[in-house]
Amino acid sequence: MRVFVAGGTGVVGRQLVPQLVARGHQVTATTTSAAKLGVVQRLGATGVVMDGLDATSVGEAVAKAQPEAIVHQMTGISMAHGGKADLKHMDRWFATTNRLRTEGTDYLLAAAEATGVSQFVAQGYAAWNGIREGGWVKSEDDPLDPLTGTSAQPVMAAISHVEDVVVKAGGAVVRYGGLYGPGATDDQVELVRKRQFPLVGDGAGYSSWIHVDDAASAAVLAVEHDATGVFNIVDDEPAPASQWLPYLAACAVAKPPMHVPKWLARLIAGDVAVIMMTEGRGFSNAKAKRDLGWQLRYPSWREGFKAAVA
Ligand SMILES: NC(=O)c1ccc[n+]([C@@H]2O[C@H](COP(=O)([O-])OP(=O)(O)OC[C@H]3O[C@@H](n4cnc5c(N)ncnc54)[C@H](OP(=O)(O)O)[C@@H]3O)[C@@H](O)[C@H]2O)c1
Repeated sequence: MRVFVAGGTGVVGRQLVPQLVARGHQVTATTTSAAKLGVVQRLGATGVVMDGLDATSVGEAVAKAQPEAIVHQMTGISMAHGGKADLKHMDRWFATTNRLRTEGTDYLLAAAEATGVSQFVAQGYAAWNGIREGGWVKSEDDPLDPLTGTSAQPVMAAISHVEDVVVKAGGAVVRYGGLYGPGATDDQVELVRKRQFPLVGDGAGYSSWIHVDDAASAAVLAVEHDATGVFNIVDDEPAPASQWLPYLAACAVAKPPMHVPKWLARLIAGDVAVIMMTEGRGFSNAKAKRDLGWQLRYPSWREGFKAAVA
């Protein structure tokens, strides 16, 4: 198939493009910077400069590529696009990402319609943000948490937008757990090594993780299966922070994480960090395995962290 990857240079794009190419697809992939066109070419794709927040730029890039499928992997979370990571003010840190998930998705869907593209796959998020009631592990039938009243509320609204419009258009949303692997967790591991990533309260909140390689392979399958609907793309072992964080520290050959009470964490890092670590809900991957035939290279963060962080 001819596949158009919007955001071909990010942590997911850099795994996704070569996987698509290896399976015989003809890939056009985007970057916002002409200086990165060489990166895209080395991944095996035709590179194109596109601003996902400019409808004309998106329309022209898609029309020129004449794809049969579009994959939306545009986010603006890195320092270059989102500024310094700021969990306490997620609305600021994610301002560009939120626009890429709302306006950017709308522009890509309009371009898909104008060019007659039948298959659309977009990146969503399912790490610790399941509805905070009932069990610790959620399926696609359970709602996501709107995180009302926190700085993550606009982030969740943008994620809902992606899911609403993409599913309505007959496409698929691959909801990624917390990404790790090449380039994906360097900043967090650095904090762990400096003992600046503490366990909050009892650390009972769950997270789901996913290696970038497995995140990419799920998107490939969603394209090839002409999938529709939302899919939790997470590993087999959702786990509380009290388990995965000390393990991550051990893999990074760091001292065990410090413990801080909730009130102090709230003061330093804000509500979202406290919710994530004490009340977060993880996710089940049963649907993606069943419907897409997805098999994970790293079924658990236990072997994945060891391979990625050591
Ligand atoms: N589920 C998760 O946990 C999750 C999901 C995504 C990212 N992250 C994390 O966020 C961090 C940064 O991710 P990243 O390295 O992939 O960088 P990023 O800054 O999020 O960029 C991702 C992709 O979006 C593209 N992009 C950014 N702004 C754009 C725009 N206006 N128009 C079109 N495309 C645009 C980038 O292109 P260019 O830079 O080439 O211009 C790049 O290809 C990593 O630590 C990663 O693990 C986590």
